[in-house]
Amino acid sequence: TNQGTGRAHGKAILMGEHAVVYGFPAIAVPLPDLKVTATATLREGDSWLACSYYQGPLGDVPGELAGLHLLVAEVLKRFRWQWSVGVSIESDIPAGYGLGSSAAVAAAVARALYHLADAALSREALLDLVAISETVCHGAPSGVDALVTTGLNPLWFVRGNSPELISIPVPMFLVVATSSQSSNTRDTVQQVRVMQERLGSGAGPVHRIGALTVASRTAIERGDYPYLGALMIEGHRELAALNVTTPELEHLIATAIHHHALGAKLTGGGGGGSIIVLAQDACQQRQLADVLSTAGAVRVWTPVIQGATS
Ligand code: PMV
Repeated sequence: TNQGTGRAHGKAILMGEHAVVYGFPAIAVPLPDLKVTATATLREGDSWLACSYYQGPLGDVPGELAGLHLLVAEVLKRFRWQWSVGVSIESDIPAGYGLGSSAAVAAAVARALYHLADAALSREALLDLVAISETVCHGAPSGVDALVTTGLNPLWFVRGNSPELISIPVPMFLVVATSSQSSNTRDTVQQVRVMQERLGSGAGPVHRIGALTVASRTAIERGDYPYLGALMIEGHRELAALNVTTPELEHLIATAIHHHALGAKLTGGGGGGSIIVLAQDACQQRQLADVLSTAGAVRVWTPVIQGATS
């Protein structure tokens, strides 16, 4: 082969954001229709990247992809290639909306390079390579994004532990919508920290989110989506108590609930970013997508989570 191709997809946090920072669990879901495709070829000269907002040497890439050159260098070393590589990326995932963009791009690139080498890429090696890239712009990545951007199951994640697959007996019809502002996770995490310090060790929103996340896992495993939806609404109330919502997110969530969604909440860091909505079925999923666009959502997707068919 003289060209390698790799794919990955986005993710959203279904429950547990912010509380996960304090040792409580979080549940992440794959978003298979937010796709990333990377292609890689061998070339002479500098390694090169082409994507929608950048075209140039891989070592000078700005923003969330600034760590990609380390991933590429590691792979060149492993295969003892004397060449450089050209990488091109096509992505449906907007950066900065808590939808797993950077991990999905890194995973797609790692897969493209291994495809080019005609080599098998184990799950461990994939996570390892994504971590090399993610460390540059995310400090200490947990690895949950890397796993969920290449898998089809919801994941249960507790800081410091390896993620667990959650089985999903009944397909989940979701709507994911972005507001007009991107999310600054660093700021909202800091803001929650200040509030936690004031609260001391007593129970508060973060503890209640922890309990809601535990209940959500059971609801998913039983296929009890009316209950899961109620837990999401409750979870959003606690995130609002942490002050990480915005008027725009509130408007989109109220619109979804007004149109009888089972559940709706912000997803990811908040302070802008995206919402996640649980629909009753495929028909309501499409209706909710339309209403949310009319209500001002910038981008809307309708992922169906079915788990792996192994
Ligand atoms: O915005 P995202 O998808 O990176 O999610 C942030 C999740 C937080 O719990 C708010 C922060 C964290 O590091 O876990």
